[in-house]
Amino acid sequence: MGLVIWSAKSGRVDNLWEYTMGEQTTITTFYEKDHDRLDELFKTFQRLKRSDFPKAKDAFKEFKVGLQRHIVWEEELLFPMWEEKTGMIEDGPTPVMRFEHSQIKQLLDTIHQKVEKQNPETDQEEQALLNLLNAHNRKEERALYPAIDNVTSAEERAMIFSNMNTIPEDRYNTCCGQD
Ligand SMILES: [Fe+2]
Ligand SMILES: [Fe+2]
Repeated sequence: MGLVIWSAKSGRVDNLWEYTMGEQTTITTFYEKDHDRLDELFKTFQRLKRSDFPKAKDAFKEFKVGLQRHIVWEEELLFPMWEEKTGMIEDGPTPVMRFEHSQIKQLLDTIHQKVEKQNPETDQEEQALLNLLNAHNRKEERALYPAIDNVTSAEERAMIFSNMNTIPEDRYNTCCGQD
């Protein structure tokens, strides 16, 4: 039921969210789809920042909030599930992924500070962020997500999807003018 409430609340997430209703939905397919959605938003920001800054800024905000939400989902639900199921905590892949998240968030903040000042000169930081994100997402999509799908049951995955829904929005919904 929680899924329906969320759906009604936030238009753009609908498609993504309906995805979790299918019986075959895996962590890999859902999270890959969210990576793709975020990639598109970032591309829109890059494409428009020198021609239509307000639109570019909107895309950036949606990207930033979406990426922050994605990271909260991973760090608070997905990774703990993996750590619990495998006992791999210090010696597994999740500490590396968490470290990369902190690097990603630093770059995101650097770009954000310039976007707030209507400054489009962020090419270098954008490239650095893309390099980090692409490598990070590839590791998750090829290794960690499939591994999580392997160690969880359909019920456990459904529980993750449903718990993703209960994380308060103020945990990740911070961007221009709000933080
Ligand atoms: Fe991640
Ligand atoms: Fe991810």
